[in-house]
Amino acid sequence: MSHVRLLNVTKKFGDVSAVNSLNLEIGKGECFSMLGPSGCGKTTTLRMVAGFEDLSDGEIYVGDRLISSPKKNYYLPPERRNFGMVFQAFAIWPHLPVYENVAFPLRIRNLPAAEIEKRTKDALRSTNLLKVAADSPANLSGGGKQRVALARALAINPDVMLLDEPLSSLDPHLREEMRFEIKDLQRKYGFSIIYVTHDQSEAMALSDRILVMKAGVVQQVDTPLNVYNKPANKFVFSFIGLSNFLNIAWEDGRTFVSGENTLLPQSLMPPEDMRGSGALSLASRPSEIDFVSDDDGDGLRGVVSRKAFLGEFIDYQIKIGGQEVRVQKGRRALGPNLGETCCLRLLRPSWYAGE
Ligand SMILES: Nc1ncnc2c1ncn2[C@@H]1O[C@H](COP(=O)(O)OP(=O)(O)OP(=O)(O)O)[C@@H](O)[C@H]1O
Ligand SMILES: [Mg+2]
Repeated sequence: MSHVRLLNVTKKFGDVSAVNSLNLEIGKGECFSMLGPSGCGKTTTLRMVAGFEDLSDGEIYVGDRLISSPKKNYYLPPERRNFGMVFQAFAIWPHLPVYENVAFPLRIRNLPAAEIEKRTKDALRSTNLLKVAADSPANLSGGGKQRVALARALAINPDVMLLDEPLSSLDPHLREEMRFEIKDLQRKYGFSIIYVTHDQSEAMALSDRILVMKAGVVQQVDTPLNVYNKPANKFVFSFIGLSNFLNIAWEDGRTFVSGENTLLPQSLMPPEDMRGSGALSLASRPSEIDFVSDDDGDGLRGVVSRKAFLGEFIDYQIKIGGQEVRVQKGRRALGPNLGETCCLRLLRPSWYAGE
């Protein structure tokens, strides 16, 4: 069942279309992430859901309840939406003890004292903060401060948790740990999550579905696996994970690497509807390319222009005419050496029209 629903949600700042006719349904208990380049409208979307930003057009519902609609001149203020929020900046008050930081939103909601104490302690317990409840948050580590922000959001027992790069100020190790903690808390409390991050592996690890956005426009909404394996367009292919694009020319019924005389091997024919005159782009992932022997003539020939050992794997740059393809193989795989000619087989090639 859909829980949060955005219908044609649009936000304009002057001439800038920050969010353009966004339609979304987020399920109850779902973890939903938004990914996209800087400035594509992620924070603006989250702020509209939270109620900090009004809409230029469209409507937002929680269940059957309308919460924002400029046309109907209706707007439910943030404190009545029952959403927990954690934003990138910790936004905690260093002059108040940890306990009061967490209790604060409950106090402004005028809940009975016993209820405030119960919920605050529950949230502190869930985030492992009970023993530092009387301390100033200023003395806590980055992860500790982040926990205070999370505990405060949890204390209101939110229907939806809105998280805007909540872990970006933590070091990689802590980030990974906190990401599992957030997931555990979600299981325990059952809230839905709308998560904004620049970190793709974070989005992949946490999310049931991912939205990829570009310049305020949705490109794809899908499971992490599908966004990676079946990108809806070239932008999504290039934005998610590592990617290679080779420019290919179609001439007289044959395909060439652009600027080269070499024919593409038979195994690399573009799909029927793309054959014709004009430029094509052949997409592949560095991890989905094999080195093959030269004998069967079915590989893409190139020269190793760079070879770097990156710990778990070896990173190759292969020059094909004037273009380059990146290949990554496990550190134990036997590959060609710098300056050697090699043959590549693309395991999952994708084709896009244009360069
Ligand atoms: N208050 C504002 N006034 C004018 N323009 C704004 C305002 N807030 C955001 N914008 C513009 O709206 C667009 C979307 O901004 P937004 O902050 O939502 O992007 P974002 O996807 O969160 O980016 P980042 O990944 O850098 O956080 C940008 O072009 C931004 O400059
Ligand atoms: Mg942002």
